Parts: sequence; structure tokens; C-alpha cells
Amino acid sequence: MDRAVQQTDYDAFSCKISAIAKKYLPCQKQLELREFSDYPELHMAYAQSLKNLSRRAYGKVQKAVQSSMPLMNYGTYVRTVAVDIAIEQYINGLPKGSKVQVLNLGCGSDLRMINFMSRYPQLRWIDLDFRESVHLKAKILNSDDRFRQRLGFPAGDLSEEDYVSGRYVLHSCNLNLIEDVLEIIQEHTDPDVPTLVLTECVLCYMKFKPSQVLIDEVMSLYQTGMWLSYDPIGGETSTDRFGSIMQSNLRESRQLDLPTLMVFNSATKYAQRFKSNATSTDIRTMWQYYQTETIPQEKQRLKSLQFLDEIEELEIILSHYVLLKAFW
Ligand SMILES: C[S@@+](CC[C@H](N)C(=O)[O-])C[C@H]1O[C@@H](n2cnc3c(N)ncnc32)[C@H](O)[C@@H]1O
Repeated sequence: MDRAVQQTDYDAFSCKISAIAKKYLPCQKQLELREFSDYPELHMAYAQSLKNLSRRAYGKVQKAVQSSMPLMNYGTYVRTVAVDIAIEQYINGLPKGSKVQVLNLGCGSDLRMINFMSRYPQLRWIDLDFRESVHLKAKILNSDDRFRQRLGFPAGDLSEEDYVSGRYVLHSCNLNLIEDVLEIIQEHTDPDVPTLVLTECVLCYMKFKPSQVLIDEVMSLYQTGMWLSYDPIGGETSTDRFGSIMQSNLRESRQLDLPTLMVFNSATKYAQRFKSNATSTDIRTMWQYYQTETIPQEKQRLKSLQFLDEIEELEIILSHYVLLKAFW
């Protein structure tokens, strides 16, 4: 089961590569930023190294890129940009130059730390995932000077066990084992520094109890912070079959379980799991986000990239994903 969960990273990464190849990502605003100017090249370089190191993983990525459906690209665009903007807003909301740390739990092949660390020199970033994913990511990051320089690594060989620079940590960890998580993050972070915890499509693969323990324990560790979480929700009305279809498809095709998809089946219920530690929460479906936050020029730009005639389908899909912000 862990292996099936770990492999979901290749889906996330292929979706991103597909959205980059079709020019959905980066968004127009990021494209104008110096620190994001090499966003496409960095992702393509990562995909190329993945090809050299794991043909099987690359095969999955390539397959997804070839199919490249507009619906999928829209979904990836909204998700990625919403997360990026929330990170940006959190950091910009702190006193100028204030220290800040990001814990990316279940980071997979996410590369956004590279651009954000360039943009914010005071930012420290901690990436955690299963051992196998971390080893592969470390190998790839190690294989290219562009990654090494941007992450603050010197030339020469680095240990894959302990991939740590002054500002970046990539560490293996099973998020279900809370003692291990706490030990690692206590070693690499400061409880007094404002902390952004990111779980992007991660909590949905965890069982109820360990995911709740993770949320409660990590939030309790830091003085102040924001938890940013993106996930699917099953849908709560009796006629809504989105969640049950998604669950049975994943079980059949991948032996993959989404244990809490129907438990936290609405935005309100999803936000409740953060309530005991949070001073405030804000949650929106991605459809709400797309409608309210995507400016008309950007919607126009997206329209020009690929023809999308399934707007009702886009609404259904985006209404079943949420972005939560919990502050404490
Ligand atoms: C769908 S991928 C998302 C990756 C990344 N967050 C992103 O959005 O691009 C889910 C990731 O969560 C990781 N993950 C899920 N459960 C985990 C656990 N118990 N311990 C460590 N990593 C976990 C998987 O290995 C995988 O890399």
C-alpha cells in the first residue's frame, strides 16, 4: 500500500510537466518574476534526470504528458497557483525579512522550494517523504549543478540519507509514525520561527487517526503558523457520486485507498480537523477559487492554450477539491 501511495507522486509530477509543456504554468504573474524565470527549465531538467534514473517512473510521466487533457491541465494550474499564492501571501504577511520555515509533508517531486528559496533569502525549507521518493529526489537534485547551487549545496558528492544544506533539508520519513516526524522536524526547525506546513494531496492517503495526530502534534510544536492543505473531498449529498466513483476507480486500478475521502466529504467537515488548534480557518473549493481569484486576463490566457468545452465537468471536478488555510 505504501508503494501505491508513493507512486501517486508520479501522477502529480506528470500533471505539472504537462501543464508546463502546454504553458499553463507558471502563471503570468510568476512569469514576470526573475526568481521564477527558469521554472520550466528546472522542471524539464528534473524530468530528464528522472528518465536517466528510473525508466519506469519516467514512462508514467511521459504517458500522462502525451494525453494532456485540458481538464487535467486546468486542475493542475488552479491547484499549483493557489498553493503558490498562499505561500507568497503568508511570507509577505510577516514582518519584512522575518525568518520563516516551510515544512512540505509528502513533498514528492515538488520543486517549488527552488524558486521560493531564491525569492526569499530568509526562508528555510524542509521536504519530507517516504525513503524511496526521497532517495530518488536527492539523486536527481544532486545530478545537476543548477539544483545544487540554488539549494545551497557545495560541489562534490552528498549523502542521500541526509540531504541537508544551510537552508534546505530533504529527509525520509513515514508521516504515520509521529515520533519519527517530531524527531526530524525538531532537529531541523525552530519552534519559535513562523512555520508554514504544506500537505498538498497527502492527508487524503492517510488513515483518520494518524492524520489527526499529525495535524495536532505538528501544530502544537510551533508558536505560530499556517497549515496549507489541498485535497479531494467526496461530496456530501446523496446524489453526489464523485467520491464513491473516485474511490472505486483507485481501488481497482491501483489498489489505492482514500480512507477519509467520505469522512471529510465537504469543505466544512474538512476544516473541522484543524479547528482544535487553529485561531482561524479559511477553506474554499477550487471552483470557488478559480471563479473568484483568477483574473479575467488569466482566464483568457488559459482559454487560448487549449480548447476546453467541458466547463460543467470542470466545475464538478474543481468543486470536489479544497484548499484549506488554518492559522494559529
Ligand atoms: C499525490 S503525491 C503529492 C506530492 C506533492 N505534495 C505534490 O503535490 O506535488 C502524495 C505524496 O505524499 C507522500 N506520502 C503520502 N503518505 C505518506 C506518508 N505516510 N509518509 C510519507 N510520505 C507520504 C507520497 O509518497 C507522495 O509523494
